[in-house]
Amino acid sequence: MLSEKMNEALNVQANREVYSSYLYLSMSYYFESINMEGFAHWMRLQAGEELVHTMKMLDYVAGKGGRARMLAVEAPKFSWASPLQAFQHVWDHERVVTGLIQTLVKVAEEELDEVTKEFLQWFVLEQVEEEESSDNVRNRVMAAGIDRAALEAADRELGQRSFKFPRGFEIFPYAGSQ
Ligand code: FEO
Repeated sequence: MLSEKMNEALNVQANREVYSSYLYLSMSYYFESINMEGFAHWMRLQAGEELVHTMKMLDYVAGKGGRARMLAVEAPKFSWASPLQAFQHVWDHERVVTGLIQTLVKVAEEELDEVTKEFLQWFVLEQVEEEESSDNVRNRVMAAGIDRAALEAADRELGQRSFKFPRGFEIFPYAGSQ
């Protein structure tokens, strides 16, 4: 059974995961608006992955006899000055999320909730991966600079991204490359 404080902290984090999804979807449509379909595809898959994070967290709350509660989702930005600014935003955002997960682990420790602390290890490791992949993409776009041909090459490359949704979270059965 979850303590009230732990339950609420998990609901709040699930809300931040939905916000992440919303933010990346917003970026996806931004890229579509500037005809960078590969970047748009990459962001769309990222938005889907964040929904998996959301449901994973809320499923845990519900499974532990807690109450999964939907909170209001903040509206994200909808425009960026350049592709690099958007990818920089992804990397900055993921580092913020890492901090939030670490705070959540501290709440589990304070509540003497070893089971939730163990559950959160998946998110701790996921954040290592999320920071690394967003940094790699940011560097790829930074290397292209303002050279239109190089940016289009990066756009084609990122358009190859695929993501297999884990069992039980098949929002789309298989989100392959374009
Ligand atoms: Fe769910 Fe990208 O952190």
